[in-house]
Amino acid sequence: MLRYVVSALALLPVAALAESVTLPNVLHDGPITPDGISAKGHIDWPKLLPGVNATSYDWWYFDVVSADAKASATVVFYNSGPNGFINTFLGGPLSASLIGVLPNGTVYDISVPATSAIISRSDDSSATSAVYTDSGFSFNGTSTSTHHGKAAQRYVVTIDAPELGVTGTLTLDSLAPAHYPCGPDSSPGQTELLFPHVWWSNAVPDAAGEVDLLINGTEVKFDGVGYHDKNWGDTPFVTTTSTWYWGHARLGPYSIVWFDAFDSAGVEHYSGYVAKDGKVLLGSCAQDAVVVRPWGINGEFPPKIGTGVPQGLEVVFDLGYGKTFWANRTLGTVTGGLGGGGCDGRTYQGASLFEEFKLTQ
Ligand SMILES: *[C@@H]1O[C@H](CO)[C@@H](O)[C@H](O)[C@H]1NC(C)=O
Ligand SMILES: *[C@@H]1O[C@H](CO)[C@@H](O)[C@H](O)[C@H]1NC(C)=O
Ligand SMILES: *[C@@H]1O[C@H](CO)[C@@H](O)[C@H](O)[C@H]1NC(C)=O
Ligand SMILES: *[C@@H]1O[C@H](CO)[C@@H](O)[C@H](O)[C@H]1NC(C)=O
Ligand SMILES: *[C@@H]1O[C@H](CO)[C@@H](O)[C@H](O)[C@H]1NC(C)=O
Repeated sequence: MLRYVVSALALLPVAALAESVTLPNVLHDGPITPDGISAKGHIDWPKLLPGVNATSYDWWYFDVVSADAKASATVVFYNSGPNGFINTFLGGPLSASLIGVLPNGTVYDISVPATSAIISRSDDSSATSAVYTDSGFSFNGTSTSTHHGKAAQRYVVTIDAPELGVTGTLTLDSLAPAHYPCGPDSSPGQTELLFPHVWWSNAVPDAAGEVDLLINGTEVKFDGVGYHDKNWGDTPFVTTTSTWYWGHARLGPYSIVWFDAFDSAGVEHYSGYVAKDGKVLLGSCAQDAVVVRPWGINGEFPPKIGTGVPQGLEVVFDLGYGKTFWANRTLGTVTGGLGGGGCDGRTYQGASLFEEFKLTQ
Protein backbone atom coordinates (compact mmCIF):
# COMPACT_ATOMS: atom_id res chain seq x y z
CA MET A 1 0.00 0.00 0.00
CA LEU A 2 2.70 2.41 1.03
CA ARG A 3 4.75 1.46 -2.02
CA TYR A 4 1.77 2.21 -4.22
CA VAL A 5 1.35 5.66 -2.69
CA VAL A 6 5.03 6.45 -3.15
CA SER A 7 5.05 5.48 -6.81
CA ALA A 8 1.82 7.39 -7.44
CA LEU A 9 3.42 10.48 -5.95
CA ALA A 10 6.43 10.04 -8.17
CA LEU A 11 4.12 10.14 -11.20
CA LEU A 12 2.45 13.39 -10.18
CA PRO A 13 3.46 16.25 -12.44
CA VAL A 14 5.58 18.67 -10.48
CA ALA A 15 4.33 22.21 -10.87
CA ALA A 16 7.65 23.85 -10.13
CA LEU A 17 7.45 27.45 -9.06
CA ALA A 18 9.18 29.22 -11.90
CA GLU A 19 8.85 32.77 -10.78
CA SER A 20 7.61 34.81 -7.90
CA VAL A 21 7.79 38.54 -7.17
CA THR A 22 6.60 40.55 -4.21
CA LEU A 23 5.15 43.98 -4.93
CA PRO A 24 5.50 46.41 -2.04
CA ASN A 25 2.65 48.71 -1.08
CA VAL A 26 4.90 51.68 -1.79
CA LEU A 27 5.04 54.04 -4.76
CA HIS A 28 8.21 54.22 -6.80
CA ASP A 29 9.55 57.77 -6.79
CA GLY A 30 10.61 58.53 -10.37
CA PRO A 31 10.08 57.35 -13.93
CA ILE A 32 8.88 53.81 -14.61
CA THR A 33 8.97 51.68 -17.76
CA PRO A 34 5.87 49.78 -18.87
CA ASP A 35 6.23 46.36 -20.46
CA GLY A 36 5.34 46.78 -24.14
CA ILE A 37 6.27 43.54 -25.93
CA SER A 38 4.72 40.17 -25.11
CA ALA A 39 6.86 37.38 -23.67
CA LYS A 40 6.01 33.71 -23.20
CA GLY A 41 4.38 33.02 -19.84
CA HIS A 42 4.09 36.70 -18.95
CA ILE A 43 0.61 37.64 -20.18
CA ASP A 44 -0.51 38.13 -16.57
CA TRP A 45 2.78 39.28 -15.07
CA PRO A 46 3.32 42.67 -13.30
CA LYS A 47 3.91 45.15 -16.12
CA LEU A 48 5.64 48.17 -14.59
CA LEU A 49 9.37 48.30 -13.85
CA PRO A 50 10.79 48.94 -11.35
CA GLY A 51 7.32 49.53 -9.87
CA VAL A 52 4.31 51.79 -9.94
CA ASN A 53 4.68 55.56 -9.53
CA ALA A 54 2.07 58.20 -8.67
CA THR A 55 0.87 58.61 -12.28
CA SER A 56 0.90 54.98 -13.48
CA TYR A 57 -1.28 51.92 -12.95
CA ASP A 58 -1.38 48.15 -13.42
CA TRP A 59 -4.40 46.01 -12.66
CA TRP A 60 -5.88 42.50 -12.96
CA TYR A 61 -9.59 42.38 -13.75
CA PHE A 62 -12.08 39.47 -13.43
CA ASP A 63 -15.82 39.43 -14.05
CA VAL A 64 -18.74 37.02 -14.25
CA VAL A 65 -22.17 38.05 -15.53
CA SER A 66 -25.18 35.74 -15.21
CA ALA A 67 -26.75 34.30 -18.35
CA ASP A 68 -29.80 36.58 -17.94
CA ALA A 69 -27.46 39.56 -17.33
CA LYS A 70 -29.31 40.40 -14.09
CA ALA A 71 -26.44 39.58 -11.71
CA SER A 72 -22.74 40.27 -12.00
CA ALA A 73 -19.58 40.29 -9.92
CA THR A 74 -16.34 42.08 -10.81
CA VAL A 75 -13.09 41.85 -8.86
CA VAL A 76 -10.09 44.07 -9.60
CA PHE A 77 -6.61 43.82 -8.09
CA TYR A 78 -4.89 47.21 -8.34
CA ASN A 79 -1.30 48.33 -8.24
CA SER A 80 -2.06 51.93 -9.03
CA GLY A 81 -0.81 55.41 -8.13
CA PRO A 82 -3.17 58.07 -6.74
CA ASN A 83 -3.24 59.79 -10.17
CA GLY A 84 -2.95 56.62 -12.26
CA PHE A 85 -6.40 55.19 -12.79
CA ILE A 86 -9.84 56.31 -11.54
CA ASN A 87 -10.08 53.83 -8.67
CA THR A 88 -10.01 55.09 -5.06
CA PHE A 89 -6.50 55.35 -3.64
CA LEU A 90 -6.44 53.66 -0.23
CA GLY A 91 -3.18 55.10 1.08
CA GLY A 92 -0.91 52.84 -1.01
CA PRO A 93 -0.94 51.47 -4.57
CA LEU A 94 -2.16 47.96 -3.64
CA SER A 95 -5.87 47.37 -3.18
CA ALA A 96 -8.61 45.04 -4.31
CA SER A 97 -12.26 45.71 -5.01
CA LEU A 98 -15.46 43.77 -5.50
CA ILE A 99 -18.34 45.43 -7.31
CA GLY A 100 -21.51 43.66 -8.28
CA VAL A 101 -25.22 43.66 -8.83
CA LEU A 102 -27.67 41.30 -7.13
CA PRO A 103 -30.52 39.84 -9.22
CA ASN A 104 -32.89 42.41 -7.66
CA GLY A 105 -30.74 45.30 -8.84
CA THR A 106 -29.00 46.08 -5.53
CA VAL A 107 -25.42 47.20 -6.11
CA TYR A 108 -22.62 46.23 -3.71
CA ASP A 109 -19.16 47.72 -3.76
CA ILE A 110 -16.20 47.24 -1.43
CA SER A 111 -12.51 48.13 -1.65
CA VAL A 112 -9.74 47.03 0.65
CA PRO A 113 -6.02 47.86 0.87
CA ALA A 114 -3.26 45.23 0.88
CA THR A 115 0.14 45.41 2.55
CA SER A 116 2.01 43.57 -0.24
CA ALA A 117 1.23 41.39 -3.24
CA ILE A 118 2.92 38.08 -4.01
CA ILE A 119 2.67 37.24 -7.71
CA SER A 120 3.72 33.78 -8.88
CA ARG A 121 3.45 31.31 -11.69
CA SER A 122 4.63 27.75 -12.25
CA ASP A 123 7.15 26.63 -14.82
CA ASP A 124 4.80 25.09 -17.29
CA SER A 125 2.19 27.79 -17.45
CA SER A 126 1.40 31.44 -17.93
CA ALA A 127 -1.44 31.00 -15.41
CA THR A 128 -0.56 33.46 -12.69
CA SER A 129 -1.53 33.64 -9.03
CA ALA A 130 -1.60 36.61 -6.71
CA VAL A 131 -2.00 36.93 -2.98
CA TYR A 132 -2.91 40.44 -1.84
CA THR A 133 -1.61 40.14 1.70
CA ASP A 134 -3.90 41.26 4.56
CA SER A 135 -6.79 42.06 2.19
CA GLY A 136 -8.42 38.63 2.09
CA PHE A 137 -8.31 38.82 -1.74
CA SER A 138 -6.29 36.43 -3.92
CA PHE A 139 -6.48 34.70 -7.27
CA ASN A 140 -5.05 31.39 -8.36
CA GLY A 141 -4.45 30.51 -12.02
CA THR A 142 -3.79 26.88 -12.96
CA SER A 143 -3.52 25.01 -16.24
CA THR A 144 -6.22 22.48 -16.88
CA SER A 145 -7.21 20.55 -19.95
CA THR A 146 -10.70 20.56 -21.33
CA HIS A 147 -12.59 17.47 -22.43
CA HIS A 148 -11.46 18.27 -25.97
CA GLY A 149 -7.91 17.79 -24.74
CA LYS A 150 -7.07 21.43 -25.43
CA ALA A 151 -5.03 23.35 -22.88
CA ALA A 152 -7.17 25.65 -20.82
CA GLN A 153 -6.85 27.62 -17.66
CA ARG A 154 -8.80 27.92 -14.46
CA TYR A 155 -8.72 31.05 -12.34
CA VAL A 156 -10.19 30.98 -8.86
CA VAL A 157 -10.63 34.37 -7.21
CA THR A 158 -10.99 33.93 -3.46
CA ILE A 159 -12.38 36.54 -1.12
CA ASP A 160 -12.06 35.93 2.58
CA ALA A 161 -13.02 39.25 4.13
CA PRO A 162 -15.60 38.50 6.82
CA GLU A 163 -15.00 41.91 8.42
CA LEU A 164 -16.36 43.45 5.18
CA GLY A 165 -19.15 40.89 5.04
CA VAL A 166 -17.80 38.94 2.05
CA THR A 167 -16.48 35.40 1.67
CA GLY A 168 -16.48 33.05 -1.30
CA THR A 169 -15.13 32.53 -4.80
CA LEU A 170 -15.42 33.42 -8.47
CA THR A 171 -14.29 30.54 -10.72
CA LEU A 172 -13.44 31.03 -14.39
CA ASP A 173 -12.71 28.14 -16.77
CA SER A 174 -11.37 29.55 -20.03
CA LEU A 175 -13.18 28.78 -23.29
CA ALA A 176 -11.18 30.83 -25.80
CA PRO A 177 -7.44 31.46 -26.36
CA ALA A 178 -5.60 34.36 -24.74
CA HIS A 179 -4.69 37.37 -26.84
CA TYR A 180 -3.14 40.83 -27.01
CA PRO A 181 -4.49 43.90 -28.89
CA CYS A 182 -3.20 42.68 -32.26
CA GLY A 183 -2.79 38.91 -32.02
CA PRO A 184 -2.66 35.66 -30.04
CA ASP A 185 -0.62 34.98 -26.91
CA SER A 186 0.86 31.99 -28.75
CA SER A 187 3.03 34.39 -30.84
CA PRO A 188 5.46 36.09 -28.43
CA GLY A 189 7.18 39.35 -29.32
CA GLN A 190 4.10 41.28 -30.32
CA THR A 191 2.92 44.68 -29.17
CA GLU A 192 0.89 45.01 -26.00
CA LEU A 193 0.02 48.64 -26.78
CA LEU A 194 -3.71 49.26 -27.12
CA PHE A 195 -3.36 52.97 -27.76
CA PRO A 196 -0.88 55.67 -26.72
CA HIS A 197 0.09 55.15 -23.05
CA VAL A 198 -2.42 52.28 -22.50
CA TRP A 199 -1.42 48.60 -22.71
CA TRP A 200 -3.64 45.50 -22.57
CA SER A 201 -3.50 41.72 -22.32
CA ASN A 202 -6.49 39.39 -22.30
CA ALA A 203 -5.63 36.06 -20.67
CA VAL A 204 -9.26 34.87 -20.64
CA PRO A 205 -11.49 36.38 -23.37
CA ASP A 206 -14.36 34.05 -22.42
CA ALA A 207 -14.92 31.59 -19.62
CA ALA A 208 -17.51 29.44 -17.96
CA GLY A 209 -17.97 31.52 -14.84
CA GLU A 210 -19.34 30.57 -11.45
CA VAL A 211 -19.96 32.90 -8.55
CA ASP A 212 -20.39 31.55 -5.04
CA LEU A 213 -20.31 34.38 -2.51
CA LEU A 214 -21.78 35.06 0.89
CA ILE A 215 -22.44 38.78 1.16
CA ASN A 216 -23.59 39.94 4.59
CA GLY A 217 -25.54 36.73 5.09
CA THR A 218 -27.02 36.61 1.57
CA GLU A 219 -25.96 33.73 -0.68
CA VAL A 220 -25.03 35.06 -4.12
CA LYS A 221 -24.70 32.09 -6.44
CA PHE A 222 -24.90 32.08 -10.21
CA ASP A 223 -23.29 30.67 -13.36
CA GLY A 224 -22.57 32.78 -16.37
CA VAL A 225 -20.07 34.32 -18.73
CA GLY A 226 -16.62 35.02 -17.28
CA TYR A 227 -13.72 37.17 -18.45
CA HIS A 228 -10.25 38.19 -17.26
CA ASP A 229 -7.82 40.79 -18.55
CA LYS A 230 -5.28 43.34 -17.43
CA ASN A 231 -4.46 46.93 -18.31
CA TRP A 232 -1.53 49.10 -17.43
CA GLY A 233 -0.37 52.59 -18.24
CA ASP A 234 2.39 55.10 -17.56
CA THR A 235 0.30 58.29 -17.70
CA PRO A 236 -2.89 59.31 -15.84
CA PHE A 237 -5.69 57.38 -17.54
CA VAL A 238 -8.00 60.41 -17.75
CA THR A 239 -5.44 62.36 -19.79
CA THR A 240 -5.00 59.61 -22.39
CA THR A 241 -8.56 58.73 -23.23
CA SER A 242 -11.59 60.64 -24.46
CA THR A 243 -14.09 57.85 -25.22
CA TRP A 244 -13.72 54.15 -24.52
CA TYR A 245 -16.10 51.34 -25.47
CA TRP A 246 -15.05 47.95 -24.20
CA GLY A 247 -17.06 44.83 -23.58
CA HIS A 248 -17.29 41.11 -23.96
CA ALA A 249 -20.09 38.67 -24.64
CA ARG A 250 -20.89 35.12 -25.56
CA LEU A 251 -23.41 34.43 -28.31
CA GLY A 252 -24.07 30.73 -28.91
CA PRO A 253 -20.71 29.27 -29.96
CA TYR A 254 -19.14 32.73 -30.37
CA SER A 255 -16.92 34.55 -27.85
CA ILE A 256 -16.48 38.24 -28.62
CA VAL A 257 -14.42 41.06 -27.11
CA TRP A 258 -14.56 44.61 -28.43
CA PHE A 259 -12.48 47.65 -27.78
CA ASP A 260 -13.03 50.88 -29.71
CA ALA A 261 -11.64 54.08 -28.20
CA PHE A 262 -10.66 57.62 -29.06
CA ASP A 263 -7.45 58.88 -27.52
CA SER A 264 -7.05 62.43 -26.21
CA ALA A 265 -5.93 63.55 -29.70
CA GLY A 266 -9.20 62.25 -31.17
CA VAL A 267 -7.63 59.30 -32.98
CA GLU A 268 -9.76 56.13 -33.00
CA HIS A 269 -8.14 52.81 -31.99
CA TYR A 270 -9.56 49.31 -32.45
CA SER A 271 -9.10 45.81 -31.12
CA GLY A 272 -11.57 43.09 -32.07
CA TYR A 273 -11.67 39.43 -31.08
CA VAL A 274 -14.08 36.75 -32.27
CA ALA A 275 -13.69 33.03 -31.52
CA LYS A 276 -16.09 30.23 -32.44
CA ASP A 277 -16.05 27.10 -30.25
CA GLY A 278 -12.66 28.25 -28.93
CA LYS A 279 -11.14 28.75 -32.40
CA VAL A 280 -10.04 32.31 -33.18
CA LEU A 281 -11.73 33.90 -36.23
CA LEU A 282 -10.49 37.44 -35.58
CA GLY A 283 -7.83 38.93 -33.33
CA SER A 284 -6.89 42.26 -34.83
CA CYS A 285 -6.07 45.89 -34.15
CA ALA A 286 -6.48 46.91 -37.79
CA GLN A 287 -8.54 49.97 -38.63
CA ASP A 288 -12.27 49.17 -38.33
CA ALA A 289 -11.49 45.64 -36.98
CA VAL A 290 -14.39 46.41 -34.67
CA VAL A 291 -16.54 49.53 -34.73
CA VAL A 292 -18.80 50.34 -31.78
CA ARG A 293 -21.53 52.97 -31.95
CA PRO A 294 -24.26 53.84 -29.44
CA TRP A 295 -27.93 54.09 -30.49
CA GLY A 296 -31.29 55.08 -29.04
CA ILE A 297 -31.67 57.20 -25.91
CA ASN A 298 -28.26 58.72 -25.00
CA GLY A 299 -27.04 57.47 -28.37
CA GLU A 300 -25.17 60.68 -29.20
CA PHE A 301 -21.79 60.07 -30.74
CA PRO A 302 -19.18 60.91 -29.73
CA PRO A 303 -20.60 60.94 -26.20
CA LYS A 304 -19.90 63.79 -23.76
CA ILE A 305 -19.22 63.57 -20.03
CA GLY A 306 -22.88 64.36 -19.30
CA THR A 307 -24.26 61.74 -21.71
CA GLY A 308 -26.04 58.93 -19.88
CA VAL A 309 -25.69 55.22 -20.54
CA PRO A 310 -26.84 54.61 -24.11
CA GLN A 311 -29.92 52.51 -24.68
CA GLY A 312 -27.89 50.25 -26.94
CA LEU A 313 -24.63 49.61 -28.70
CA GLU A 314 -24.01 48.27 -32.17
CA VAL A 315 -20.77 46.35 -32.45
CA VAL A 316 -19.57 45.27 -35.91
CA PHE A 317 -16.46 43.11 -36.38
CA ASP A 318 -14.75 42.91 -39.77
CA LEU A 319 -13.85 39.26 -40.36
CA GLY A 320 -12.37 40.00 -43.78
CA TYR A 321 -13.47 38.74 -47.20
CA GLY A 322 -16.68 40.76 -46.88
CA LYS A 323 -17.79 38.92 -43.75
CA THR A 324 -18.85 40.62 -40.57
CA PHE A 325 -19.95 39.54 -37.14
CA TRP A 326 -22.47 41.91 -35.60
CA ALA A 327 -23.74 42.28 -32.08
CA ASN A 328 -26.50 44.52 -30.82
CA ARG A 329 -26.45 45.13 -27.13
CA THR A 330 -29.27 46.42 -24.95
CA LEU A 331 -29.19 46.48 -21.14
CA GLY A 332 -26.69 43.67 -20.73
CA THR A 333 -28.18 41.24 -23.21
CA VAL A 334 -26.87 40.93 -26.74
CA THR A 335 -28.14 39.56 -30.00
CA GLY A 336 -25.81 38.85 -32.87
CA GLY A 337 -24.49 36.60 -35.55
CA LEU A 338 -22.60 36.43 -38.79
CA GLY A 339 -23.41 38.98 -41.48
CA GLY A 340 -22.24 39.79 -44.97
CA GLY A 341 -21.18 37.16 -47.51
CA GLY A 342 -21.72 33.59 -46.42
CA CYS A 343 -24.12 34.66 -43.67
CA ASP A 344 -25.49 31.59 -41.92
CA GLY A 345 -28.58 33.58 -40.99
CA ARG A 346 -28.61 32.49 -37.36
CA THR A 347 -29.06 34.98 -34.57
CA TYR A 348 -27.88 34.22 -31.05
CA GLN A 349 -28.66 35.77 -27.69
CA GLY A 350 -26.32 36.11 -24.77
CA ALA A 351 -25.08 38.09 -21.81
CA SER A 352 -22.43 40.77 -21.84
CA LEU A 353 -20.63 43.12 -19.58
CA PHE A 354 -19.42 46.45 -20.90
CA GLU A 355 -17.89 49.70 -19.90
CA GLU A 356 -18.01 53.14 -21.39
CA PHE A 357 -15.75 55.96 -20.27
CA LYS A 358 -16.55 59.49 -21.36
CA LEU A 359 -13.70 61.73 -20.43
CA THR A 360 -14.27 64.61 -22.89
CA GLN A 361 -15.94 67.85 -21.82
C1 LIG B 1 5.99 57.99 -13.78
O1 LIG B 1 6.65 57.40 -14.89
C2 LIG B 1 6.33 58.02 -16.11
C3 LIG B 1 6.96 57.19 -17.23
O2 LIG B 1 8.32 57.07 -17.04
C4 LIG B 1 6.86 59.44 -16.10
O3 LIG B 1 6.52 60.08 -17.31
C5 LIG B 1 6.20 60.18 -14.94
O4 LIG B 1 6.74 61.48 -14.84
C6 LIG B 1 6.43 59.44 -13.66
N1 LIG B 1 5.61 60.07 -12.63
C7 LIG B 1 6.13 60.42 -11.46
C8 LIG B 1 5.16 61.03 -10.51
O5 LIG B 1 7.30 60.25 -11.18
C1 LIG C 1 -32.16 42.71 -2.74
O1 LIG C 1 -31.70 41.48 -2.23
C2 LIG C 1 -30.91 41.60 -1.05
C3 LIG C 1 -30.43 40.21 -0.70
O2 LIG C 1 -31.48 39.29 -0.66
C4 LIG C 1 -31.71 42.22 0.07
O3 LIG C 1 -30.88 42.37 1.21
C5 LIG C 1 -32.19 43.59 -0.39
O4 LIG C 1 -33.01 44.16 0.59
C6 LIG C 1 -32.95 43.46 -1.69
N1 LIG C 1 -33.24 44.81 -2.19
C7 LIG C 1 -34.42 45.15 -2.69
C8 LIG C 1 -34.55 46.57 -3.18
O5 LIG C 1 -35.35 44.37 -2.76
C1 LIG D 1 -3.14 27.38 -6.48
O1 LIG D 1 -3.84 26.16 -6.48
C2 LIG D 1 -2.98 25.02 -6.64
C3 LIG D 1 -3.86 23.81 -6.84
O2 LIG D 1 -4.85 23.74 -5.87
C4 LIG D 1 -2.08 24.95 -5.43
O3 LIG D 1 -1.19 23.86 -5.57
C5 LIG D 1 -1.26 26.23 -5.31
O4 LIG D 1 -0.49 26.23 -4.15
C6 LIG D 1 -2.17 27.45 -5.31
N1 LIG D 1 -1.34 28.64 -5.41
C7 LIG D 1 -1.54 29.71 -4.65
C8 LIG D 1 -0.60 30.86 -4.87
O5 LIG D 1 -2.44 29.79 -3.83
C1 LIG E 1 -21.92 44.49 4.87
O1 LIG E 1 -22.49 45.26 5.88
C2 LIG E 1 -21.59 46.19 6.48
C3 LIG E 1 -22.30 46.84 7.65
O2 LIG E 1 -23.51 47.38 7.24
C4 LIG E 1 -21.17 47.19 5.42
O3 LIG E 1 -20.23 48.10 5.96
C5 LIG E 1 -20.51 46.44 4.26
O4 LIG E 1 -20.19 47.36 3.22
C6 LIG E 1 -21.46 45.39 3.72
N1 LIG E 1 -20.77 44.62 2.72
C7 LIG E 1 -21.14 44.62 1.43
C8 LIG E 1 -20.32 43.79 0.51
O5 LIG E 1 -22.06 45.27 0.99
C1 LIG F 1 -30.23 47.12 -32.88
O1 LIG F 1 -31.48 47.04 -32.20
C2 LIG F 1 -32.26 48.23 -32.34
C3 LIG F 1 -33.50 48.06 -31.49
O2 LIG F 1 -34.07 46.81 -31.69
C4 LIG F 1 -32.59 48.44 -33.82
O3 LIG F 1 -33.29 49.65 -33.95
C5 LIG F 1 -31.29 48.52 -34.61
O4 LIG F 1 -31.56 48.62 -35.97
C6 LIG F 1 -30.44 47.28 -34.35
N1 LIG F 1 -29.17 47.39 -35.05
C7 LIG F 1 -28.68 46.41 -35.77
C8 LIG F 1 -27.34 46.64 -36.40
O5 LIG F 1 -29.27 45.35 -35.96
